[in-house]
Amino acid sequence: MRVFITGSAGFIGFHLARLLLQQGHSVHGFDGLTDYYDVRLKQRRHALLREHPNFTATEAMLEDAPALQKAAQAAQPDVIVHLAAQAGVRYSLENPRAYIDANLVGTFNVLEVARALKPRHLLMASTSSVYGANSEMPFGEQQKTDWPLTLYAATKKANEAMSHAWAHIHGVPTTMFRFFTVYGPWGRPDMALFKFTRGILEGTPIDIYNHGDMWRDFTYVDDLVRAIGLLIDAVPPAPGERTPEHGWQPIEGDTLSPAAPWRVVNIGNSDKVRLLDFVEAIEAEVGQRAVRKLLPLQTGDVPATWADCSLLQRLTGYRPHTPFRQGVAAFVRWYRDYHGV
Ligand SMILES: NC(=O)c1ccc[n+]([C@@H]2O[C@H](COP(=O)([O-])OP(=O)(O)OC[C@H]3O[C@@H](n4cnc5c(N)ncnc54)[C@H](O)[C@@H]3O)[C@@H](O)[C@H]2O)c1
Repeated sequence: MRVFITGSAGFIGFHLARLLLQQGHSVHGFDGLTDYYDVRLKQRRHALLREHPNFTATEAMLEDAPALQKAAQAAQPDVIVHLAAQAGVRYSLENPRAYIDANLVGTFNVLEVARALKPRHLLMASTSSVYGANSEMPFGEQQKTDWPLTLYAATKKANEAMSHAWAHIHGVPTTMFRFFTVYGPWGRPDMALFKFTRGILEGTPIDIYNHGDMWRDFTYVDDLVRAIGLLIDAVPPAPGERTPEHGWQPIEGDTLSPAAPWRVVNIGNSDKVRLLDFVEAIEAEVGQRAVRKLLPLQTGDVPATWADCSLLQRLTGYRPHTPFRQGVAAFVRWYRDYHGV
């Protein structure tokens, strides 16, 4: 299978590309190596992928529609996985326009590529942040996502709507995933685990929001990309194909659209963890206590996320399972090795 992955120099794209290459597929990566965080980390990820003979890449921006079209046309993908985005909840307060450019214009350009090339399946990243001010837990895909708290969440919600319209009009089967706080080796420097580990090792204070009363459904990156790999084969059927003659059986809690080959699926760990327990796991692994700076909840942030992953399990037979202490240990080992500390 030939897979076109946008965001291949990013945290999740890198891990997904690695998994698919290991499974014998060919991957063409597309990434603009933006300077939102340390570009050297992105270069290192791409360099590692380039060691594989079945990996090729284009380094360009999504907003450069001709470059994106040329790269995708040459790759002739069976499957497109769109992960490139301006990510980050907090940065969307500082630089909202970056989210409009990458997530709205960029995603539209990916949809146009899918319309032209008609891959077997288009899969795109949304986020648990779309649940916004909804406080019913755990978050199920059928719950309300009409109250985004940041422009980041609003652009991802818009991506869900845009992809639905394109799937309806142009018929490209599309799966949107809502990821829940992903962590692990080669992770993002703007995310809590990275910042906490650095702070603890350097003995500098770490910022703990909502005075530590935060809960997250931390999802280990290997589990996440395994779930994506399995969802690639769970192609949403068009409305006319949903008959026993097509081998189709209804699935409880499915989010299939009545009007398009489109669905949305949560990928989380189904187990919320208290942030302070997460910090203690890092301290135990590093062997040093953190200097805690307790702060109020930040604008746009939510105190808790917790995923209902029963649809993922029904579609793939799989659910993420790595215990957070094990995942934290793997991250800290990687961090120390990467930074030589
Ligand atoms: N990591 C998480 O916890 C998490 C949670 C929810 C959703 N997501 C979503 O998953 C996807 C991948 O996230 P990640 O954690 O790997 O982030 P990341 O920032 O590590 O990766 C994104 C990659 O996209 C590239 N990129 C950004 N804007 C671009 C543009 N305009 N043109 C071309 N390339 C561009 C960046 O250079 C980067 O390498 C994103 O869509 C993100 O919103 C991530």
